[in-house]
Amino acid sequence: MIRFENVGLRYGKGAEILRDINIDLQPGSFNFLLGPSGAGKTSLLKLMYFSIKPSRGRISMFDRDISTLSRQERPMFRRKMGVIFQDYRLLPHLSAMNNVALPLRIAGLSESQIQNNVKELLNWVGLEDRLDAMPATLSGGQQQRVAFARAVINRPSFLLADEPTGSVDSKTAKRLYQLFHDLHSLGTTIFIATHSKDLVHEFGYPCYYLENGILHQPR
Ligand SMILES: Nc1ncnc2c1ncn2[C@@H]1O[C@H](COP(=O)(O)OP(=O)(O)OP(=O)(O)O)[C@@H](O)[C@H]1O
Ligand SMILES: [Mg+2]
Repeated sequence: MIRFENVGLRYGKGAEILRDINIDLQPGSFNFLLGPSGAGKTSLLKLMYFSIKPSRGRISMFDRDISTLSRQERPMFRRKMGVIFQDYRLLPHLSAMNNVALPLRIAGLSESQIQNNVKELLNWVGLEDRLDAMPATLSGGQQQRVAFARAVINRPSFLLADEPTGSVDSKTAKRLYQLFHDLHSLGTTIFIATHSKDLVHEFGYPCYYLENGILHQPR
C-alpha cells in the first residue's frame, strides 16, 4: 500500500525531525500513530499524501516511487486517498454541504446522487441542521465533522487522519470511529495520528510510536 524506506525529513536548514523512517503498511490494515506533541506526526502524514518531499529515502505507494509521479498522475493517486487534516482545511467559500460534495463532484456523480449521499453522511455525523452553514460559522467540532465527512464520502482506499476526533465530545468520537470501522470492513487502509493513548488502547490495532524523530514499529 504505502512504503517508506529510510526516509528522513528536515525543514529548510534545520535538524532532521524524522530519521530513518521505515513503514510498510499492508492493504486493508488499521493503524495508529502515537507520539507526543511536536514529534512529527503531522509531518509524517504530509509525506504520505505527498504535500512535502522527504529530504532523503524513498516513499512508494501502490508500488510506485512517488517521486516519479508525473503532474497528471499525482491527482489520480490523491483521489484514492481521503485526508482529515488536523486544521480541517475546509474551503471557506463553500457551505458544509458543498465541502463534503467536492470529492463526489470531482468523481462525476449526478447531482441527485451527490445530494443524497452528502445529506445522509452529514446526518450521520449530526450536522443535518447545518447543511448550508459556511465553515466560519461552525464550531471547531462541527468543522471537524465536516472534514471527516469530506474525507470518507468517496470510500477512499487509503484514509489518513490527523487527530480526527480531537475537537469533538466522546459520544461523537465513538460515532466517528464506528464509521472508520465500517470503512475498514469495506477494505480501506487506515492510518490515524493521535496523542490519545486511551483511544489506541481501546481499539487494540497496531500502533506505531514516534519520538525524537525515530519511528518505533508496532509490537
Ligand atoms: N513548515 C514547517 N517549517 C519548519 N518546521 C516545522 C514545520 N512544520 C513542522 N515543523 C516542526 O517539525 C516538528 C514536528 O511537527 P509536527 O507538526 O509534525 O508535530 P506533531 O507530532 O504533529 O505535533 P502535534 O501533536 O502538536 O500536532 C516540530 O518541531 C515543528 O516545529
Ligand atoms: Mg500534528
